[in-house]
Amino acid sequence: MDFRLIDRLSNRTTALITKHPAGIPLVFGALLGLTIAAGFAGLAGLSDSNGFCLSCHEMAGASYQDYLQSPHYRNRTGVRAGCADCHLPHANWLAYAKAKVTASKDVYHHLIGTIDTPEKFAALRLEMARRVLLDLKASDSAPCRSCHDVSAMDPQAQGSGDMHQRIGTLGKTCVDCHQGLAHRLP
Ligand code: HEC
Ligand code: HEC
Ligand code: HEC
Ligand code: HEC
Repeated sequence: MDFRLIDRLSNRTTALITKHPAGIPLVFGALLGLTIAAGFAGLAGLSDSNGFCLSCHEMAGASYQDYLQSPHYRNRTGVRAGCADCHLPHANWLAYAKAKVTASKDVYHHLIGTIDTPEKFAALRLEMARRVLLDLKASDSAPCRSCHDVSAMDPQAQGSGDMHQRIGTLGKTCVDCHQGLAHRLP
């Protein structure tokens, strides 16, 4: 370890501070900002895991069992779509932040027990599915497209004719034709 380098660096820092005392709060502010941003990104990342969603949604018994049976959970290529991959818009950070804030209503509904029995869940399921589908339509199925890219599709292998290639002119989005993918339709 060459301490002369550290000496020189700290001399230079002292000189800088004496010269620009007003800079100190700025530097600390920047460091604090970075720490908070990293913390938020970490939390947001954590709250994107299936485990986090399931801490409340295991109640969604049937829905969850459907997901475990679906190709989005387990398939020949081993690429898994997690809850948050389909239910949160990742491509657009503004939409993502908005979705996170809106989702905090889930915490309220959890506390008052809106879907805490299979009966209550079943009663609300259709309405919730409708909300999800409306959201996906509004974003032109953005979460789906973060994995599925029409230009990367092989129509022959899909047996979909030129359906996907004409998607723009058809004025349709993925969830107009594909529903009940990870959960059976209510
Ligand atoms: C604190 C508990 C809790 C957590 C954690 C949670 N949810 Fe929810 N979620 C609920 C409750 C309660 C409802 C019913 C809310 C209502 O009726 O508006 C709900 C509703 C939903 C709906 C139905 C559509 C809608 O907008 O109401 C979806 C989809 C959903 N949650 C997905 C998720 C995903 C994905 C995660 C993980 C990223 C997650 N939830 C984490 C409690 C939770
Ligand atoms: C995290 C990436 C990812 C996301 C997000 C995603 N998918 Fe998939 N999708 C996959 C993978 C991986 C497969 C399975 C491929 C295989 O069979 O090997 C698949 C399979 C499919 C299939 C064929 C199997 C089936 O269940 O019919 C359809 C249709 C499909 N996805 C549509 C969608 C739609 C619509 C959305 C949005 C609601 C979506 N996907 C979101 C990765 C994803
Ligand atoms: C106008 C209706 C329509 C739209 C819109 C549409 N698809 Fe399809 N898709 C089909 C049809 C029909 C098939 C072939 C039959 C089948 O497997 O369901 C198909 C097949 C697929 C498959 C292959 C299924 C398999 O088992 O191999 C995937 C993946 C897929 N679509 C994803 C998407 C995604 C992602 C979008 C949005 C970008 C989308 N589709 C939009 C009608 C549509
Ligand atoms: C492949 C994308 C995809 C994945 C993965 C996925 N969902 Fe969904 N989810 C949807 C779509 C699309 C709907 C709208 C209804 C439908 O088409 O099935 C929906 C509907 C829902 C609903 C409304 C009630 C219902 O049963 O329809 C809840 C709650 C929900 N999802 C929670 C979850 C949770 C929790 C996970 C993870 C365990 C998860 N989803 C994984 C795409 C997905």
